Amino acid sequence: MPLGDAEYMDRALSLAARGRGLTSPNPLVGAVVVSPDGVVVGSGYHERAGEPHAEIHALRAAGGAARGATLFSTLEPCCHTGRTGPCVDSILEAGVARVVVGVEDPNPRVRGGGVQFLREHGVDVTVGVREAQAARLNLPFFVRVRYGRPLVMLKVALSRDGYVARRSGVRSAITAPAAVRDAHALRAEFDAIAVGSDTALVDDPVLTAREVHRVRPLTRVIFDSRLRTPPASAVFGTRDAGPIVIVTSEADVAAVPERAAALEHAGARLLQAPRHDLPSALRVLGAEGVTSLLLEGGPRLHAAAWEARVVDRVRLYVSPAAFGAGGVPWFTTGASVREALDDVDVRMVGPDECTEGYVHRTD
Ligand SMILES: NC(=O)c1ccc[n+]([C@@H]2O[C@H](COP(=O)([O-])OP(=O)(O)OC[C@H]3O[C@@H](n4cnc5c(N)ncnc54)[C@H](OP(=O)(O)O)[C@@H]3O)[C@@H](O)[C@H]2O)c1
Repeated sequence: MPLGDAEYMDRALSLAARGRGLTSPNPLVGAVVVSPDGVVVGSGYHERAGEPHAEIHALRAAGGAARGATLFSTLEPCCHTGRTGPCVDSILEAGVARVVVGVEDPNPRVRGGGVQFLREHGVDVTVGVREAQAARLNLPFFVRVRYGRPLVMLKVALSRDGYVARRSGVRSAITAPAAVRDAHALRAEFDAIAVGSDTALVDDPVLTAREVHRVRPLTRVIFDSRLRTPPASAVFGTRDAGPIVIVTSEADVAAVPERAAALEHAGARLLQAPRHDLPSALRVLGAEGVTSLLLEGGPRLHAAAWEARVVDRVRLYVSPAAFGAGGVPWFTTGASVREALDDVDVRMVGPDECTEGYVHRTD
């Protein structure tokens, strides 16, 4: 028995997810071609930037069976104003009768243009099947088009009583090995991970994604206006893993040119934005090709991002252990952040509780 539109779109969504971590700066897209009697005759996903779009893979797999069929695509097929876009053209050439779209492409150059083109050429088009899921799948892309910055996910590990470290100035293990592995897998999904300068000074992290498969370089970002990161920091021993970027300001570089030179000599690239202006710094990172950024802390950097309303997703790990008085508090309570989230998912990772969600937005 044929499935409903939503079920076929679910298949396209799970196909799209296979490209995770590989398609940047392009979106994840999945597509399936379904014959009039409900048989999936072709499927595909966008596997890598520069390679064919999902619709093309699915249509090629379907061959002649695409004639009269329905194409399900998680994202509106591309079509560029003034020219015939490759996907909508191929859809017409293949003789597809109906197209079901998860979500409209927010890119101003497309935004409904693909749908309009198909309708004008006699194709029956339905838009908005599993729309929220389709948009979430490509949140970096939607955030970039809408706000002109990378997607930002805030990640933190807290003790049961809400501390991020046992004592000031001391690197503290909070979660068990399972959550540490889980967090490394999360890093692998992002273009870049970032910490504030005090975390760089206290923890001396290498900021790599360990014990996970990652084919792309990972950009490591340190928000460090005053250039206090020591050139001998451990992160500079991992330059093979990807670029190391220090976000500073023009005035700060001018104030301590010798530190700037030493950091560049150690392998850092210095990016400049007005001091502590996180939205501007994010736009600069976006212009450098960073579409998603995992903000790992510490509390001051997290607070700045939260107050600037540039956080899109949150993951909180809470350990069963309490640190007691003397710990370094987070900038707020886990409960207050949880209240600001939609689609909250709570799971146990070993002994630690992991809560994840999307920051509720009305803009
Ligand atoms: N449990 C966890 O998940 C976790 C994760 C990370 C860190 N930590 C802990 O957190 C502690 C450090 O946190 P922290 O809050 O003291 O420092 P932080 O947030 O790591 O770094 C703060 C510094 O970042 C720089 N910065 C750059 N842009 C900024 C902006 N827009 N807003 C605010 N600061 C900006 C500032 O230095 P400039 O003025 O020089 O720019 C500021 O002093 C350590 O104990 C570390 O172990 C815990």
